[in-house]
Amino acid sequence: MKDYLKMGASCAVRSIRRAAGLEKHSESVRSDASELWNYLVRFTPAQRRLRRGQLKDYSGLHVSPEAEAETLALREMARAIYGQRYEYMSFATNREVVHVFETVLDSLAGRFERINYLEIGSAQGLSMSLMGLLLRQKRRLGRLVSVDPYFDDGYVEGQRSPWGKSGVSQATDGMREGALRLYESAGLDVEQRRTTSLNGLRELIAEEARFELIYVDGYHEGLTPAVDIGLSLALLADNGVIMLDDHQWPDVSPLENLLRQHSKSIVRNWKIAAFSANLHGEVNDARVEAPPAREAEKVAT
Ligand SMILES: C[S@@+](CC[C@H](N)C(=O)[O-])C[C@H]1O[C@@H](n2cnc3c(N)ncnc32)[C@H](O)[C@@H]1O
Repeated sequence: MKDYLKMGASCAVRSIRRAAGLEKHSESVRSDASELWNYLVRFTPAQRRLRRGQLKDYSGLHVSPEAEAETLALREMARAIYGQRYEYMSFATNREVVHVFETVLDSLAGRFERINYLEIGSAQGLSMSLMGLLLRQKRRLGRLVSVDPYFDDGYVEGQRSPWGKSGVSQATDGMREGALRLYESAGLDVEQRRTTSLNGLRELIAEEARFELIYVDGYHEGLTPAVDIGLSLALLADNGVIMLDDHQWPDVSPLENLLRQHSKSIVRNWKIAAFSANLHGEVNDARVEAPPAREAEKVAT
């Protein structure tokens, strides 16, 4: 009898979860039920949107067999360095993220022979390595540059996330060492610039660097996302692609909205939104010509 009740409860919880769009479920009815309770009662609409995106079933999403193989290889290399915490602060090997990376690279095919890739915020090096491996596999690998300060004591973030809770991110020197080891084991030549995006991007602009692909995944709060995106646009090749991470965060979302209106949307999921930007079409950098000198007005006699 008890077992029948349990089965009934489990079926009910799972079908309501499915109806709410929460496709992935755990092994325990209790955690399914508490997720459902949070989702229906405690979450704000923004939190619900995010959670629904995270819990969706992406197993049917297209990813090429080559990209799948690179992702598996990367997981193994990362596990050997970081153990079970190999995806701390990263969702890079999630199928929906790999799909975004591949779609973006496909959209750049034919336009650029080599892709120079700039990443703002690399943490353990997962997204940088995955992009590098995919580019190498597609024979279009150019320069790989990562800008990340790896602050000595980590940094606090999250107060202005959809969850409204801050925490300390442990992206410190040790993590930088791990990222460098990962690049090495993947055989990727990554230029790691240990500085903030503000300094790093200014330096790259002064060096007249150009990137066909830029991933903005640094600090997501305050004016930092606006600065990162603005300076990145100055570094982006015409018709290059800019990817915004955590675009549903309140200080990123208005910028995502702006790009959606003024550039071409390539692909988007709960985490990343990618746009192809043609700055010559969208930025007014034309000089204002001085109007021709007007003839002296004739004085009526
Ligand atoms: C979410 S993690 C990046 C995850 C990585 N892109 C991935 O998917 O594997 C964010 C990173 O941003 C870095 N970061 C924080 N503040 C920054 C700043 N002002 N400029 C550049 N990077 C920053 C952190 O050190 C951290 O490594």
